[in-house]
Amino acid sequence: MDTFQGFHRSHYCGQLRLSDAGKTVSLCGWVQRQRDLGGLIFVDLRDRTGLIQLSFDDSTGRDIFDKASSLRAEYVVAATGLVRERESKTDKIPTGDIEVYVTQLRLLAKADTPPFEIVEHSKANDMLRLKYRYLDLRRPEMQQAIATRHKITKIARDYFDEQGFLEIETPILTKSTPEGARDYLVPSRVHPGKFYALPQAPQQYKQLLMLSGFDRYFQIARCFRDEDLRADRQPEFTQIDLEMSFADEEDIMSIQEGFLKRVFKQVLDVDIQTPFQRLPWQEAMDRFGSDKPDLRFGFELTDISDLVKECGFGVFSGPVAAGGSVRLINVNGHAADFPRKKIDKLVEFVKTYQAKGLAWTRMVDGQITSSYAKFLTEEENKAILDRAGAKDGDLILIVGDEKNEVVWAALGALRCEVARQLDILDPRDFRFLWVTQFPMFEWSEEEGRYQAMHHPFTAPMAEDEDKILSDKAHCRARAYDIVLNGTELGGGSIRINTPELQEKAFLALGLSEEDIQERFGHLVGAFKFGAPPHGGLAYGLDRLCMLMAGASSIRDVIAFPKVQNASDLMMACPDFVDGKQLDDLSIAVTRREQEEAGE
Ligand code: AMO
Repeated sequence: MDTFQGFHRSHYCGQLRLSDAGKTVSLCGWVQRQRDLGGLIFVDLRDRTGLIQLSFDDSTGRDIFDKASSLRAEYVVAATGLVRERESKTDKIPTGDIEVYVTQLRLLAKADTPPFEIVEHSKANDMLRLKYRYLDLRRPEMQQAIATRHKITKIARDYFDEQGFLEIETPILTKSTPEGARDYLVPSRVHPGKFYALPQAPQQYKQLLMLSGFDRYFQIARCFRDEDLRADRQPEFTQIDLEMSFADEEDIMSIQEGFLKRVFKQVLDVDIQTPFQRLPWQEAMDRFGSDKPDLRFGFELTDISDLVKECGFGVFSGPVAAGGSVRLINVNGHAADFPRKKIDKLVEFVKTYQAKGLAWTRMVDGQITSSYAKFLTEEENKAILDRAGAKDGDLILIVGDEKNEVVWAALGALRCEVARQLDILDPRDFRFLWVTQFPMFEWSEEEGRYQAMHHPFTAPMAEDEDKILSDKAHCRARAYDIVLNGTELGGGSIRINTPELQEKAFLALGLSEEDIQERFGHLVGAFKFGAPPHGGLAYGLDRLCMLMAGASSIRDVIAFPKVQNASDLMMACPDFVDGKQLDDLSIAVTRREQEEAGE
């Protein structure tokens, strides 16, 4: 193996152009591929900027030529040579007009044949790519995604710095608090039986920093939540986290709009219009069935409960009588794209959202077919189609349920599914939206009590403050989410800043005075020392990067992500630890033997 010592890289591979012809350059990187044509050898050399062709011919020194002939994919080399115009040019790569005629070559490391080819648009399966993530990260699209992420983070730092925000780190070992997702716990060696929790977000710390007078805080903050993974969820993820004192919703939103405008311009050269549209939560649910609506297409929801409440068809009248609703979407002009078989699949689709079924009317070439028309009177049928604005070519899809939440969830997801199947979603069309006036509480079937919809530190809307204890179902919060193309990019709120109101909010969540003291005593106590009015927001940095990189999962913009079951395939963790380590931590594992026995 040759030494690297004394070698000085002059350029990156992907940066050279025809205008560099005649220059002597020194490059380093990995062999993408080597083609040996007898008297002629071509080597594509790759670094993080791209590829360039190295060439060797019969005028190349024998020892260099022999070395070049021994090169294989992923060998690490350093080469010095002359940039010259290529005989057979290619427009497949930006350096396709030139090559480097090599005069010095150093072989720095050999490589085994990789388990998959290091190429753009790899066909290797995800599990293999993640097991060998360090190789996967060599691929150009991964290099680009990680570089884009860096750029976004840097712009965030610069922008918020310019706006007077201070970056302040907050602890990773902290206190477990109820509410929110499940915590990751860390046992304390020094305090046997006691645990730290990894932060789900720096929420309480940033509020306490406002109390300390820091006024404008931000942090690129790592957060940990033990929840089920999805394409836009990881157990550890990163927030761009902010908090401001002496600010209301408008101040916070306009600063965020400025940030998003800047980041989209600088990273994607896309001009986004501000201020963004704002939609109260109730309207978002009624029109889109979702608190994170995708505004790139229509197919809005229409309530037909009043039209069917007395009809003879129990599937429609039943839910209304039980306090629920019946709603529809009109997939305008696309009935022909949904033949019967596809509609049957949509019926199965809504069932995954707990809907009991999907009623439909399909209008193609003057022919109306319907799954429910025969159960209704002519007037009732007409009234529904009129309300839907239905005309020839339309497909009407209807869901009724005793629970509005089921109707919203099913139709909200269905409208997106239909748009996806129609392939009408342009990833470069960025539709931002603020969803505001969220409910303060949501009912948890699992817990049998109300929970905070955002978090327990969120302030109620002034006009709903007296509903905190008496009418939780109708108490609205000063909370807002920033939504982009159907993804919740970030969320925040104006916070409670008096101990009295904070206690009341905890009581409303069913916490006893004792729980409050034990779990949140520090916060309630702190609020007695003068808390400024404050509020903030946190973006999911991974989600922002995903949408900006046009990726379909946040895994694609995280260097070392976890898989579905929260494990890291590359590091092979989580893993068992030594008995000694457990003893030190006063921990006894009760399930290990059973698991090892495969029970
Ligand atoms: P929230 O819980 O809404 O608010 O989180 C803010 C944003 O973080 C992102 N996010 C996630 N991204 C990837 N994987 C996850 N598991 C995950 N969970 C959340 C989302 C979300 O919008 N402290 C408050 C913010 C505040 O009130 O200031 C908070 O954490 O993009």
